[in-house]
Amino acid sequence: MQKAIKVTDSIYWIGGNDRETDLFEGLWSLPRGVAYNAYLINDEKTALIDTIKSANLSDYIERLNSILPNGKQIDYLIVDHMEPDHSGSIRMLRQLYPNMKIVGNKKTIEMLDAFYGITDGIVEVKDGDVLDLGRHKLTFALIPMVHWPESMVTYDTTEKVLFSTDAFGGFSALEGGIFDDELDMAHYESETLRYFANIVGRYAAPTQKAIAKVRGLDLKMICPAHGPIHRTNPWHIVDLYDKWSRHETEEGVVVVYGSMYGNTKFMTDAIARSLSENGIQDVIVHDASRSNISFMVRDIWKYRGLVIGSCTYNTELYPPVAHLCRTLANKMMKNRVLGICGSYSWSKGALAELQLFAEQNGGWELAEPSVEVKSCPTDNDLGLCRQLGANVAKMIKNKQQ
Ligand code: FEO
Repeated sequence: MQKAIKVTDSIYWIGGNDRETDLFEGLWSLPRGVAYNAYLINDEKTALIDTIKSANLSDYIERLNSILPNGKQIDYLIVDHMEPDHSGSIRMLRQLYPNMKIVGNKKTIEMLDAFYGITDGIVEVKDGDVLDLGRHKLTFALIPMVHWPESMVTYDTTEKVLFSTDAFGGFSALEGGIFDDELDMAHYESETLRYFANIVGRYAAPTQKAIAKVRGLDLKMICPAHGPIHRTNPWHIVDLYDKWSRHETEEGVVVVYGSMYGNTKFMTDAIARSLSENGIQDVIVHDASRSNISFMVRDIWKYRGLVIGSCTYNTELYPPVAHLCRTLANKMMKNRVLGICGSYSWSKGALAELQLFAEQNGGWELAEPSVEVKSCPTDNDLGLCRQLGANVAKMIKNKQQ
């Protein structure tokens, strides 16, 4: 039987690790899985913080029963977020604990009905409301659009623990440890950036508002819904999310190319070499046909510069590059430098679409020249590519954060 893990004397982790799901939200790769964190507060009144994806319910129930055996009553289920990776077991929990009150805000209540047909036994809370469990007094703070409209966090004023839902969370299952001091945090910080860029990053402005609320708290621990529990220095993960959601980037360039027969790659190789010759240490090259989009988006979020090269395919942008551009437009990145180049053989198309991408996404400052090549780059074309690389390097080094 699975056992709960003690977080404090009266708070327990009752989540689960999912290493079977290949794609989070059906989109984002999970090479090392994902954890769905959920918590039990065992006080005079008992409270659960969120449920778990329905496929992982047995983990949750076994851990819960290890602390509260024989079906001891649960008084409250606090629903901080309704995305089904956390809410997916609400209906089953309600059947197991029919007297359990479900706690959520106005938007949560609408979603409880829409997802699960649950309309009764609900306690509505507003920003700043307090729920008294006995020793623990919980307060709620709404953080709309981080990353759904009903998102909220729960703060335990007694133990100074913040249950932060998706905020400050990351990908990767929890491998043995659950706390930051038990885990390889280089791996988890990289997976947290990937989670942020893939899931939360579009909502950078609401994330900034949420961080402003959190800054006022006396914090001993952050317990997110994914990834490690932060108890060594909880402000470190807040600072990382703060940096990423301010679009503060590191000096470096991601070069992405889409190429059928290597001619566009020839161009981006020249640009990558020029970036290096002009002092850019971190140059990350991705083949759009083969690199995983989740990792490309992570790298692009991290670095200040992006170069995109694409061949033309059936008069349009090469499909893997088009998919990337559409994804990046959705993420609404800001404060970055972009260089573009394209090739064609019998009909133009790719470069014009990349120019449109640059014009329609205000967050990118376009470096000159945009280079367009017919079939195979000439020495003159490669000279223009090197010039583009040099200009991107210069703009990155001069760009204010
Ligand atoms: Fe982890 Fe937005 O659900």
